[in-house]
Amino acid sequence: MSISTQSTDGRWSSRWLFVLAAAGSAVGLGNIWKFPYIAGENGGGAFVLIYLVCVAFVGAPIMISEVMLGRKGRASPINTMRKLTQEAGAGARWTFLGWMGVLAGVLILSYYAVIAGWALNYIWLTASGTFDAASAQVAITTFDQLQQDPLEMMGWHSAFMVITIWIVARGVSRGLEAAIRWFMPLLFVLLLVLLGYSISSGGFAQGWAFMFDFNWSVVGPETWLIAMGQAFFTLSLGMGTMMAYGAYVPGDSHIGSTVLTIVALDTFVAVAAGLAIFPLVFVNGLEVGQGPGLMFVTLPLAFGQLPMGALFGTVFFVLVSFAAITSAISLTEPAIAYVVEEYNAKRSRVAISLGIFCWLLGLGTVFSFNIWADLKPLFGLNFFELVDQLSQNIMLPLGGLLIALFAVWVLPQSIAREQLQVTSKRVMFCWRVVGGVMAPLGVAAVFVYTFLPFFIG
Ligand code: PFF
Repeated sequence: MSISTQSTDGRWSSRWLFVLAAAGSAVGLGNIWKFPYIAGENGGGAFVLIYLVCVAFVGAPIMISEVMLGRKGRASPINTMRKLTQEAGAGARWTFLGWMGVLAGVLILSYYAVIAGWALNYIWLTASGTFDAASAQVAITTFDQLQQDPLEMMGWHSAFMVITIWIVARGVSRGLEAAIRWFMPLLFVLLLVLLGYSISSGGFAQGWAFMFDFNWSVVGPETWLIAMGQAFFTLSLGMGTMMAYGAYVPGDSHIGSTVLTIVALDTFVAVAAGLAIFPLVFVNGLEVGQGPGLMFVTLPLAFGQLPMGALFGTVFFVLVSFAAITSAISLTEPAIAYVVEEYNAKRSRVAISLGIFCWLLGLGTVFSFNIWADLKPLFGLNFFELVDQLSQNIMLPLGGLLIALFAVWVLPQSIAREQLQVTSKRVMFCWRVVGGVMAPLGVAAVFVYTFLPFFIG
């Protein structure tokens, strides 16, 4: 086994490109599809405030830990953990963190590509006028028909996977950077266009009130836990993605401020997506709390009722697809970086093999909506639900918890101080309290909440 001190596959050409890449990983279906529907289901403003608290006190410190470990290790998450545990004189068992991240990435990519495939399909559907002046029934039937047709879903799922793997195969500078350089600015422009559209739709005041008026009566302990889980997924934490990207960060960039920029961008996109979506929902008298269908049923319907709706609807789904691609790329990085550096393998070959494997695994998710819908092998969950729950609710929180604990309590303090460029004792103390105590406790709460029902029945 070789543990290199240089990342095998290059460096980001600037700190700013790392910010764009990490923001590209963070901003995805989690922000545009999930965040609005979860906020809708959980009372709007109250949820948004709690989510922001979780992002600031749990998400940001864990991201700092991941990037710090990655830059120090300068290798794939597995080898970074190997190297740092040796350096810290800690047990080799910590390396398990890297392996779990690789597995989580593979599992998440397998279903992420399926849902992102729906978004690709919706570019075509909105552009071809399917929803122009359509009734609610048309919107519902269109979504149902897609889910009931495994071949159609496989087609879109395959298309998404091919695009992702094609970019990944080209490597950090020719693939990732080139894609991110284009996608991210475009995404922000599209989002602003949509915001403008939504502001002029007539429902903006209502949408704004829904997002920012705090109604404490709807807040329960569960709201905190849902917000915490969402903060985690949306910031791409717990599986080594930020560690893998951190390995390519230039040595002189300031990790704290870089991470805060990434977190701010991710939060901006989630809030802006909410502000773009809710006014359209209100202006059409539709249901805000209807769950995952918000993006695939309510929104096309809302666009269909508005002037130039087909155009803006198409723009919206293009935006979602871009966001999903830059996230999907990052899901593969921990696995690909490891195989490339460990076996000196060709990146394109590794990328294609991983793509084929994830694609095959994704068929389980495709079939979970139709021919396998009733197949519930464990805990009354179908294949898609199992993979989703296992990766998002178990592997990511566990990974995040351990990463924060490792970064603060196992890694020698001198390394942390050097990486974070902190000289003040007081700042270091605050970092240890937030990163080593508050953040792990927050994640542990989500974890207990997820597991407790299994133990107490
Ligand atoms: N953060 C992405 C989203 O919000 O859609 C999902 C994700 C990407 C999670 C990469 C984890 C990850 F490593």
